[in-house]
Amino acid sequence: PRSIWLSRHGESMYNLGGQIGGDADLSERGHEYARRLPELVRKSVGDDRPLTVWTSTLKRTIQTARFLPEHYNQLQWKALDELDSGVCDGMTYAEIKEAYPEDFAARDDDKYNYRYRGGESYRDVVIRLEPIIMELERSEDILIVTHQAVLRCIYAYFMKKDQRESPWLNVPLHTLIKLTPRAYGTLEEFTSSGI
Ligand code: F6P
Repeated sequence: PRSIWLSRHGESMYNLGGQIGGDADLSERGHEYARRLPELVRKSVGDDRPLTVWTSTLKRTIQTARFLPEHYNQLQWKALDELDSGVCDGMTYAEIKEAYPEDFAARDDDKYNYRYRGGESYRDVVIRLEPIIMELERSEDILIVTHQAVLRCIYAYFMKKDQRESPWLNVPLHTLIKLTPRAYGTLEEFTSSGI
């Protein structure tokens, strides 16, 4: 690809309550980010560069992308859905610690390999992202609106970081990231929406 733009979805109602997973709507701030995203993208991409937009199948990424120009192709990928937290879906970290103390400690010990009961690990996410990465490698400009864990893995791949570091990477909310792969390494540019 020439460049890849990455964004987390806008703040969701679950983010507000500290709950993980789920399929919540955006919060008021999240909607505000969605409204500002077209301008943020236009400034970074330019006016007449065609762009394809990929989201997950979850409401919060689709809502985040919904004000982007209609001439952008949009595609939803199940493989871009957030890391599946299994039985912990919808819980806060405090609730998980209370209900599954051993799991909570195990995740802290080895966050990359820890697999939620009935759910996924970061390692699982990296594997399910393989087709996405292959498709990305042979695509033109793409904007991906997805989730924290998934974004960490995609970012680590293009920044040539060890995937075992991805669970700890900081990917700020309401920020557009532009990655441009070059022979000597990937250029990165962060633009905050100020929200
Ligand atoms: O809190 C938002 C969220 O995307 C959750 O849905 C997800 O489980 C979590 O972040 C992933 O972050 P971490 O792996 O650090 O718990």
